[in-house]
Amino acid sequence: MDTPLARLHPACTPPADSFADALMTGLRKSPKQISAKYFYDAPGSQLFDEICDLPEYYQTRTETALLRRHAPEIAALMGDGAEIVEFGAGSLRKIRILLDQGMAHTYVPLDISGEYLQDVVQTLAADYPALEVRPVVADFTLPMDIPGQARRAGFFPGSTIGNFRPEAAAALLRRMRAVLNGGGLLIGVDLVKDPTRLHDAYNDAAGVTARFNKNLLVRANRELGADFDIDAFAHYAPYNVPMQRIEMYLVSLKRQIVTLWGEQFEFAQGEALYTEDSHKYTIENFREMAVSAGFSPRAVWTDEERLFSVHWLESR
Ligand code: TRP
Repeated sequence: MDTPLARLHPACTPPADSFADALMTGLRKSPKQISAKYFYDAPGSQLFDEICDLPEYYQTRTETALLRRHAPEIAALMGDGAEIVEFGAGSLRKIRILLDQGMAHTYVPLDISGEYLQDVVQTLAADYPALEVRPVVADFTLPMDIPGQARRAGFFPGSTIGNFRPEAAAALLRRMRAVLNGGGLLIGVDLVKDPTRLHDAYNDAAGVTARFNKNLLVRANRELGADFDIDAFAHYAPYNVPMQRIEMYLVSLKRQIVTLWGEQFEFAQGEALYTEDSHKYTIENFREMAVSAGFSPRAVWTDEERLFSVHWLESR
């Protein structure tokens, strides 16, 4: 007999490269997996902002302090009249540090979460009346076409580059370079360090990261009519020492069958959905990757504890 869900979503092909398509494809794989970009719907973007303020999540604080400390030098590198393109702009908090230097003429924030972007852009535009703000709702993991020939300064903070496998990260840097029209890229990269420190940053005591991870299932239930038993999943984020990355999983605590678009997916007890990697680099091996992607690493800034790094890369 037909279940109500199967009637709601007849087994057919969902739109290519949609959340539905990615989840279906990912659930058919072994091990089950899904791209981290689907974390960032409006509630997910908000939860991520909460992560950035957590005591254990040193990344945002450290990177922000580095940007503040070196803002005049960064502004000089970007140059007067700069057109700044930010990849995955999120809350638009960090960019303000650079905009306050007054060198930017145009700001192009690019984000996958259109609803959220529209919201935060309003406030930013009101705060910087002389700035030309051109928001673009886009997935920067796909080919990007940003109209205009101007030389651009790229901005890619938050160590988002770490959320890609090294191969994909190098390819992404190459594609970013292509839209910069010969300009440079300012990029934040989290560094290898004491694994306990890394572990704590993705396993906060307040459980915000767990909620963020599980939001993916909440989103699937709401948007796609899936029936994940969210309380029966555990957030699990160990640090893989030889791979130098945090691995993020949602682990089913019981055997359950999830129905999505009329297809049934079985989770065995203890079976995981692999949701994200967060790769950590040394300054040296990140610079090597940048070179392989066609950039010349110029300046690099880091804090006293060497927790985080900010790099200025020039197009070659
Ligand atoms: N770029 C961030 C990072 O890797 C993204 C992130 C932080 C994240 N905490 C997370 C992604 C928790 C998923 C779950 O550090």
